[in-house]
Amino acid sequence: MTEQLSRPAAPTSPMPPTIEDNVNLTTGEVFLDRSTGHPVMQLKDVGVAFGGRSAVRNVSFDVFDREITALIGPSGSGKTTLLRALNRMHDTVRSAKVTGKIMLGDTDVYSGSTDPTLLRSRVGMVFQRPNPFPTMSIYENAVAGLRFNGVRKKALLDEAAESALVAAALWDSVSDRLKSHASTLSGGEQQRLCIARALAVEPEVLLMDEPTSALDPIATKRIEELIGELKNRVTIIIVTHNMQQAMRVADRCAFLLMGEDRTGELIEFGSASKLFSEPDDPRTLDYVNGRFG
Ligand SMILES: Nc1ncnc2c1ncn2[C@@H]1O[C@H](COP(=O)(O)OP(=O)(O)OP(=O)(O)O)[C@@H](O)[C@H]1O
Ligand SMILES: [Mg+2]
Repeated sequence: MTEQLSRPAAPTSPMPPTIEDNVNLTTGEVFLDRSTGHPVMQLKDVGVAFGGRSAVRNVSFDVFDREITALIGPSGSGKTTLLRALNRMHDTVRSAKVTGKIMLGDTDVYSGSTDPTLLRSRVGMVFQRPNPFPTMSIYENAVAGLRFNGVRKKALLDEAAESALVAAALWDSVSDRLKSHASTLSGGEQQRLCIARALAVEPEVLLMDEPTSALDPIATKRIEELIGELKNRVTIIIVTHNMQQAMRVADRCAFLLMGEDRTGELIEFGSASKLFSEPDDPRTLDYVNGRFG
């Protein structure tokens, strides 16, 4: 086990930036770009098969520190399958086999010495449908990961709950009802609670599988804004069907498409601006322009 992997998931305040901020001036906006330009995750010839049938294959790309990487492609092209491979969510599916190599920093994700639970503290996940623990309080949902990791001290849990709920843009609306059931929140609030729950263990990477597909346009806008803010503290990989959303939030984009044998393959990977304006592959252009899928 590497030193990094054995790092406890510390319930402290938001991760301080480790590099100097680069200030980019674009179209009158000022935003902080903290990307270090270093890959946090590396996928090398990754494939996933279920019961011997290949669902996705030949996927190689790097995920860069504190950037937002979007996975796009038609239904069935293997986006969710690929995303779930990144933090070993297929471990519980007996028929699933992941091939190739996935690195998280210096950690080989599929090495026998890599502890999947610790790995999931470093690579968190937010699902398509908000899935808070409904009969647990808002507070208990926010600190669930920390409790699971063995944190018991109330002061630490309190601090982590507040920090995560602030980061998920939920604190102001729930600070006076932390003991209420999570099920009393709206769908958009529940999804932000799930984001807070994932953030509380301070992951390095956050995987999001269509996190707004069950939400209305206003809740979607709030989550998109939140994603933009979160990239200062965590690297995000997001699956989305919504091309406008990918254009709005992504720094880089991976386009997957099913081949003739119905196996998903990576067609193109690159900066989002290039993929959406002048991609190398004509199939990418057709897809981003809504001509199929
Ligand atoms: N647990 C599983 N067992 C067998 N096949 C699976 C399993 N999970 C996914 N697949 C198959 O893998 C392929 C890719 O599915 P996946 O859910 O990754 O697609 P997707 O790109 O996320 O689609 P969508 O946009 O509809 O969510 C599909 O053919 C699907 O049936
Ligand atoms: Mg999917």
